[in-house]
Amino acid sequence: MEIDRILLTQEQIQSRIRELGAALSAEYAEKTPIFIGVLRGAVHFFTDLTLQFPHPCQYDFIGAASYLDGTQTSGHVKLTKEVMSDIRGRHVIIVEDILDTGLTLRFVKDHLLLMQPASLKLCVLLDKPERRRADIAADYVGFTIPNEFVVGYGLDYNELYRNLPYIGILK
Ligand code: PRP
Repeated sequence: MEIDRILLTQEQIQSRIRELGAALSAEYAEKTPIFIGVLRGAVHFFTDLTLQFPHPCQYDFIGAASYLDGTQTSGHVKLTKEVMSDIRGRHVIIVEDILDTGLTLRFVKDHLLLMQPASLKLCVLLDKPERRRADIAADYVGFTIPNEFVVGYGLDYNELYRNLPYIGILK
């Protein structure tokens, strides 16, 4: 498999992340939020986004996976890593690479809500609304994209392509 075409260039991604960082700064400057990245696809988005947030904040990570291989979701989300922080009464921002069927983020959000944060919002780089199966929407969206299988910038196909600095569509 190879990349058929580039959907979002490195420059487009970084420019949009600066805008998202500014929007988050306006809302959370005084709130010392906890950014929770969803492993593993969100790694690059998490680091670039938080570098655009020049206020006090904390980091944590949660692991969830449903695409056990290939391009089809198993429909069953598995917690692969629990958060380490006590998020009760705190302002939490879930950082995720893509909202696709929504099954992963619905699971993660429900799981974190049980811990009674003061607020809980979702920030996703990519939103693919055509594929939605769960009742969930993001509060901050980088790009709304068409129903194509995308890789790069953290997103994989059979664990490969995560290290591309852009987002591409596979052949
Ligand atoms: C991918 C992606 C999101 C999720 C989105 O994760 O990183 O977490 O799928 O899909 P959904 O909205 O249809 O649930 P994956 O399960 O492939 O694990 P990974 O992050 O380790 O690649």
